[in-house]
Amino acid sequence: MGVLPRIVRGEGSYVYDADGRRYLDGSGGPAAFSIGHGNREVNAAIAAQLEQVACGYRYLFSSEPLEQLTSLLLACCGPEFKHIVYSGSGSEAVESALKVALQYWDARGLLAKKRFIARERSYHGNTLGALSVSGFLERRRPFEGSLLDVSFVSAANAYRPLRGLAGAELVAALAEELDERISALGPDRVAAFIFEPVVGAAGGAVPAPDGYARAIRAVCDRHQVLVIADEVMCGAGRCGTWRALEHDRVVPDILAIGKGLAGGYIPLAATIVRRTVAETIVAAQGTLLTGHTYSGHTAACAAGLAVQRIIERESLVARVNARGETLQRELRQALARFDEAGDVRGRGYLIGIELVQDRATKEPFPAERALSQAIGRRAFEEGLICYPCAGNGGDRPHTRRSVTLTDRCRPRSVRQDCVNRDSCASRSNRFVMYSSPVSLSAVAPILRSTRAYAGMAPTTAD
Ligand SMILES: Cc1ncc(COP(=O)(O)O)c(C=O)c1O
Repeated sequence: MGVLPRIVRGEGSYVYDADGRRYLDGSGGPAAFSIGHGNREVNAAIAAQLEQVACGYRYLFSSEPLEQLTSLLLACCGPEFKHIVYSGSGSEAVESALKVALQYWDARGLLAKKRFIARERSYHGNTLGALSVSGFLERRRPFEGSLLDVSFVSAANAYRPLRGLAGAELVAALAEELDERISALGPDRVAAFIFEPVVGAAGGAVPAPDGYARAIRAVCDRHQVLVIADEVMCGAGRCGTWRALEHDRVVPDILAIGKGLAGGYIPLAATIVRRTVAETIVAAQGTLLTGHTYSGHTAACAAGLAVQRIIERESLVARVNARGETLQRELRQALARFDEAGDVRGRGYLIGIELVQDRATKEPFPAERALSQAIGRRAFEEGLICYPCAGNGGDRPHTRRSVTLTDRCRPRSVRQDCVNRDSCASRSNRFVMYSSPVSLSAVAPILRSTRAYAGMAPTTAD
């Protein structure tokens, strides 16, 4: 790995390095910095909390930020949810989700329900449990043999669908596959099914086809298997509903969130548990046996609370919902002349571009080419931060290459309507890049120059 530039400052949509170079944070880093950088209100809330006390240990104290954040999150998630376990990363939130599922079945005396089912081409985190349920071959490989025995079913990807199916047939086939897998393992042995409502790092912003979430919820209910929604990347409003699965009108049993929860100001993640699950555990065993020293860290909760209040006050989730489709459409138009832009997809402001050698056959670029990384590097050199997703070819002969470009990247026309409103990048350019002088229209030249950079032949679009 080369020497990285030193970051010294952030303001709104931009970060600056020690040499004074400015970068438009087009993806909110790893889809995390949901309200932009250097927000004074959030910084003041953190500083005020630190002036009082940094952290009350969770077994000795509650605190106002903790209680207020908990009320706010439960209100955002809906009345079905009851209990929250805080942690410091998405991986920990997923670990807790897995453990809560196991403890629930233990509390009910169903002691054989220990297995997890997950999906291929998924990513749930880097700790051993979270990695065990991740269908991400490159990240798993060195640890194979020490991971949990997890069963994987097909990814739900309309662009690269199971058996070439589409629409309702695809949904039915995926649900049937899950149904058969649970039956084969034995419903009395399966604890939970975990999935990302919109796949992030492992696929490049892949939403499941319409009806998928409801269909798998029904399968799991039939077999008494819990549903865990990993919304670490796609949740907390990024997809245009506060819970990503709200879009599908589906309530999971356990929900993991992270990244956008405190917008990167202080590490904070949460595992949010459905009332029925939490109450069963508490009645039988007194408490949820998970969490860490810094669970519910007071200053982290103050950061989360400040970020979430801004999101609520400025109706940012509704804004993402209203504008996400336009952003996708304009992106499609802006990139239409590039044969390599095979698919532009996503939900809300979690949007990905899948690059292919041939649009008709969807033939991916060879993995050795590391094209998405090359584009990510090139964009970075030109002052645009995006989120390349590479590898994870799964058991297929091809490897998908894609670039996830989220948040503040929009074509000029969309940008224009926001310029006036928003000379105040640091205040209201939350999930978006409204005030940015650079935008996804910048991606076209980057894609063009990257083609040369990556050793590809020029096309007529050049
Ligand atoms: C869906 C999903 N789950 C879990 C994680 C792990 O989160 P963290 O890196 O904060 O541990 C990620 C990280 O990218 C993610 O995208």
